[in-house]
Amino acid sequence: MNNIFLIGARGAGKSTIGASLAERLGRPFYDTDRMICQRAGKSVAEIVEDAGWPGFRRLEAEVLADCLAFSASVIATGGGAVLHRQLWRRRDPGSLVVWLKVEVDTLVSRLRGDSSGSRGRPSLTGQSAADEVAEVVSRRLPLYRELAHIIIDADALDISTIVTDIVRMTAEKRKGETERGR
Ligand code: S3P
Repeated sequence: MNNIFLIGARGAGKSTIGASLAERLGRPFYDTDRMICQRAGKSVAEIVEDAGWPGFRRLEAEVLADCLAFSASVIATGGGAVLHRQLWRRRDPGSLVVWLKVEVDTLVSRLRGDSSGSRGRPSLTGQSAADEVAEVVSRRLPLYRELAHIIIDADALDISTIVTDIVRMTAEKRKGETERGR
């Protein structure tokens, strides 16, 4: 109930911004990738090596289902969490979904700069980083768009400004909904 979910592509800044947003709001913070790894006792790369992407998605679905039942928390989801469309239908109407929208070129350069490389983010398609990001983002764009209540342009990663924008926009959204409900 009343959660804030962050969605967006790999490299959009969901974990960093989510942690900072949770701190600003004084709410608990959860990160679905971290929860998946804790549950499996393995890294994402190890899960994918042992069980393939379908195995990873099964764990992701379990974790996401748990998160949907949390209260007043900030939850950063993995880039592919939007693929679980049936699960998101269980979202309570008081929870808000915030899409951190970042241009493909920015995502590619952020992922290239990530020192954990394929150990941290194993390839989804076997393509080069640039081709993979372009393809995966274009395939998932309709899902991000469909789920999002709030869209934040997170291209310029100024965390504090983005967090301030999210706080303001979620408060406005909730106020609007309360007024409509009266
Ligand atoms: C994935 C994104 C990753 C992680 C996994 C799969 C995806 O999360 O869940 O590697 O399918 O886009 P981040 O978006 O936090 O990197």
